[in-house]
Amino acid sequence: MRLERGTFGGRFAMVMAMAGSAVGLGNIWRFPYMVGENGGAAFILVYVVCCLLVSLPIFFCEAIIGKSQRANTCYLSIVSSFIILSFYSVVGGWSVDYLLRSLSGGFQGQSMEQAREMFAGISASMVENISCMLVFLGLTALIVVAGVEKGIGLFSKVSIPVLFIMMLLLAFNSSSLEGAKKGIEYLIKPDFSSLSGKAVAAALGQSFFSLSLGVGSILTYASYMKEEESVTFAGGWTVFFDTVFAIVSGFAIMPAVFAAGIEPGAGPSLVFETLPVIFSGMGWIVPIVFFLVILIAALSSSISLLEVVVSFLVDEKHLSRGRAVMDVFLLAAILGGACAVFPRLFGICDFVTSNVLMMLGALAFCLAVGWKMPREEVLSYIRSPFLYKIIRYAIPVMIIIIALIPFFDC
Ligand code: PFF
Repeated sequence: MRLERGTFGGRFAMVMAMAGSAVGLGNIWRFPYMVGENGGAAFILVYVVCCLLVSLPIFFCEAIIGKSQRANTCYLSIVSSFIILSFYSVVGGWSVDYLLRSLSGGFQGQSMEQAREMFAGISASMVENISCMLVFLGLTALIVVAGVEKGIGLFSKVSIPVLFIMMLLLAFNSSSLEGAKKGIEYLIKPDFSSLSGKAVAAALGQSFFSLSLGVGSILTYASYMKEEESVTFAGGWTVFFDTVFAIVSGFAIMPAVFAAGIEPGAGPSLVFETLPVIFSGMGWIVPIVFFLVILIAALSSSISLLEVVVSFLVDEKHLSRGRAVMDVFLLAAILGGACAVFPRLFGICDFVTSNVLMMLGALAFCLAVGWKMPREEVLSYIRSPFLYKIIRYAIPVMIIIIALIPFFDC
């Protein structure tokens, strides 16, 4: 992680860079399908509680470690970042594909059946799937070689607010479709009887995934913070922004899912089958801008994943930056290619990272701050003895209990 220590040049830029890593396909693609697979409003409530009670304190821990530079990111983080990067690039590839399709005529007049067939066609076509994945991974590699801060920092400052506004507009549009009411109810009327233990674990895993926790991304970014900048400020705003973004994405997708009669538990294909239906009556400009900003949001997350692995290889294995990027690109292309071809492998990578590896990483960061760092030093960052106790005792126990739930099948 030890790159030359730049800074973000201002509080807004710092929060936007962290939000840039956090806001991505996790909000737009993963959150809606997790909601659909795990029962709607009750899952959202548990998700928000997980974000506030567990993920926010873990964010503080990662940021404290990064800012105080007491610890290097561990091997576990490198492995998790690499696996996430590989399957994330497959979904990034789908956004490249959809952007290209919207450039060549868009989704005008597309019916639900056609949208479904289009996605099925993409996933069945090895060449299309893999080449779009390679384009996405290649763009990620180019940005990381060129230097993260200038390019993507500026990019995300503009694109994330634009994406947010577009998501809001889509949410209004989707909610006004005929038959959307059921989808809105699905998002706001919790049915706790449908909430399983697995869903609670999925909510925590999703909140780690969405906030980029447990893999060293936030740690790396926090190491670029200026002395006077506060980790609680950065954490509070990033968590707030990311959570609101996810919920707005849910409102953009789910009403349209119900309006179009798509199955909410359709899994990873959900958003890609739904968006063309929402866009079908909107002309060609809106989808182009939309998929372009999705691509930028996805890139601002994927570069933070690649950066974790590359900076490790540069610092610890003394590779040149170019060589390190090339090596990781090739390896990620192999695993990503396999994920693109075998949906089961894709699912396993997705599950293992957010339900096992990220949880272990988060636990390690939490224990490092709660039990290894001097109490006074931690308090100089978070200023709350109560929060310190929560980090020391409650959070590790909660992570262990929740992480074990899926393995006992409750
Ligand atoms: N938080 C990103 C998203 O929601 O798309 C995904 C991600 C980025 C996960 C960086 C982990 C990470 F280290």
